Amino acid sequence: MIDQSSATTTGAVKLSCRNLWKVYGSKLDYYFDTSGYSIDVDSLAARMRAEGHVPAAIDVSFDVHVGEIFVIMGLSGSGKSTVVRCLSRLVDASYGKVLLDGDNLLAKSPKELIEVRRHKMGMVFQNFGLLPHLSVMENVAFPLKLQGKPLLEQRQKAERVIELVGLQGREYALPGQLSGGQQQRVGIARSLIVEPDVWFLDEPFSALDPLIRRQMQDEFLRIQRVLHKSIVFITHDFLEALRIADRMAIMRDGKVVQIGTPTDLILNPADEYVARFTSEVPRIRLLKTAACAVPANGDASTMPQVAAEEPVENLISKLAAHPDGVAVHDTTGADLGIVTPASLIKSLAALGQDNTHVAS
Ligand SMILES: Nc1ncnc2c1ncn2[C@@H]1O[C@H](COP(=O)(O)OP(=O)(O)OP(=O)(O)O)[C@@H](O)[C@H]1O
Ligand SMILES: [Mg+2]
Repeated sequence: MIDQSSATTTGAVKLSCRNLWKVYGSKLDYYFDTSGYSIDVDSLAARMRAEGHVPAAIDVSFDVHVGEIFVIMGLSGSGKSTVVRCLSRLVDASYGKVLLDGDNLLAKSPKELIEVRRHKMGMVFQNFGLLPHLSVMENVAFPLKLQGKPLLEQRQKAERVIELVGLQGREYALPGQLSGGQQQRVGIARSLIVEPDVWFLDEPFSALDPLIRRQMQDEFLRIQRVLHKSIVFITHDFLEALRIADRMAIMRDGKVVQIGTPTDLILNPADEYVARFTSEVPRIRLLKTAACAVPANGDASTMPQVAAEEPVENLISKLAAHPDGVAVHDTTGADLGIVTPASLIKSLAALGQDNTHVAS
C-alpha cells in the first residue's frame, strides 16, 4: 500500500502558505478586505493587540517542497501550532492562502475539505490522541473506518503501517499497555494509513524522554526515506531540527523571522532571537567528513576507510588511534582524500567564515 509515486524530491512545491493570518477574537472582518490590508504588517498586528485580539499567525509565507522536511521552531506561544492548524484547516485562517498542489484550500467548501483532509493529510500530535478503548489495530485502522473502507482493506493496510513503525506483535494491545514511544508509533501509523501527500507533525516526540526521542527521530527518518512525504514538523528542540530538517522557519510572536537550512540559521542568524536558539549547537555537528578531506601525500591505501557521510564527531576517536589520518570514500567508492587531525581542526576553525565547508 505504500505510495512510492513521489519517491524522489523533485523540488516542486507541494504546499505553500501566502500572507497567512490567524487572529483570535470576534468581529475581525474589518481588518482585511479583498485587496488585503492597507497598513504595514507590524502596525496592523499592534492595532489588533490594542483592540484585544490575538494575532497568532501574522503574514506567514513559506513553501514546502515535495519530499522535504520543513521544520517550524519558536518559543511557546509563537504561533507554530496555529500555522500548522491553518495549513490543515483544523482552524480557519483569517486571511491569506494555503495552496496544496496549487489549489487554494481556504476556498474549499467544508465537504471538499473533509475529502482533502481524509485523503491527502496525515497528522501526528504531541499527546498522541489515541482512542484508549481501541486496540493498536483499531486505532491505526480508524481513519479508513471513517472512510467506510471494507474491513479486509482496513486490516491489511493497518498491518502494513504497523509493521512500518515496528509494532508488529502488539496489534491487540490497548494504548494504556504501551510505552510513550510505542503510543507515538501508533499515532504515526494511524497518520500514515491514508497514504497522505502531506504529513503534519506537531511536536510528536516532545513528550518522550531523550533516549527514546532520539530513537524515534531515527525511525522517523527511516520512514521518510521510504515514503518521501512532504512534511511540516514542529519542534522546540534545535538539535532535533538539525537532525531532521531540510529547511526550517523560526517564529516569534506570530511572525516568521527567518527561513533557511539549519546551517544557514546557525551561521547567519537574522537576529538575537534566532541566535539564541542556535547558540547551543556544537559547531562540529555542521561539518561533513568530506569537507575536512585533503589530498593524501603518499599511499593512503593502508589507512582506515571512512565514508564521506560519516559524522565528523565519529572521526575523533578514529584519528586518536590513527594520527596519520583516515581515507575518505564516497558512496560510489571514489577516493576523496584523507582526513588528518590537522585537516579536521582547520575545517572546524574555518566554520563561520567559509560556508562551503559545511553541510547544507
Ligand atoms: N483558541 C484560541 N483562542 C485564543 N487564543 C489562542 C487560541 N489558540 C491559540 N491562541 C493563542 O495564539 C498564540 C499562539 O498559540 P500556538 O498554540 O499557535 O503557539 P505554539 O507556538 O504552538 O506554542 P506551544 O509551543 O506552547 O505549543 C498564543 O498566544 C495562544 O495563546
Ligand atoms: Mg503548539
